[in-house]
Amino acid sequence: MTKITHSADETIAFGKELAAQFAPPKIVLLRGDLGAGKTTMVKGIAQAFSAAEQEDVTSPTFTLIHEYRGPQVTVYHIDLYRIDTEKELATLAIDDLIDDRSVVLIEWGEKFERFRRERDVEITIARRGENEREIRVS
Ligand SMILES: Nc1ncnc2c1ncn2[C@@H]1O[C@H](COP(=O)(O)OP(=O)(O)O)[C@@H](O)[C@H]1O
Ligand SMILES: [Mg+2]
Repeated sequence: MTKITHSADETIAFGKELAAQFAPPKIVLLRGDLGAGKTTMVKGIAQAFSAAEQEDVTSPTFTLIHEYRGPQVTVYHIDLYRIDTEKELATLAIDDLIDDRSVVLIEWGEKFERFRRERDVEITIARRGENEREIRVS
């Protein structure tokens, strides 16, 4: 499935729509260059689960993992941009986050074979222009 959005708000709205299909447990890879809109997409997904308000979702670039607790579902937002080795990855203990209440959203997860294999959903965002994005879901 492919969708074109024309603003960050449209991408957030699309994230909300997609979240309806994310019954936990789910591992979702968010792919795309820096500034593509991966974190923007998480805003919609976290909001759909009443886990966070849009403005409370920020990039976990330095903190690596953000946790947003909703009444039914906990959304984890992980950024592996700065993680390069299996050893560093192991220190994050991501396995401990995967359970039947969790939706785990991973930016740059495709760097690791393990997540390319285990992911349930892959969302790829490509920049088409200042505000235009092509979003592919598979
Ligand atoms: N259609 C769009 N979808 C998503 N973000 C958009 C769009 N148009 C413009 N933007 C802007 O692009 C930037 C995307 O940043 P971000 O979501 O942090 O990207 P990433 O996490 O992929 O590095 C934001 O400043 C956002 O407002
Ligand atoms: Mg990001």
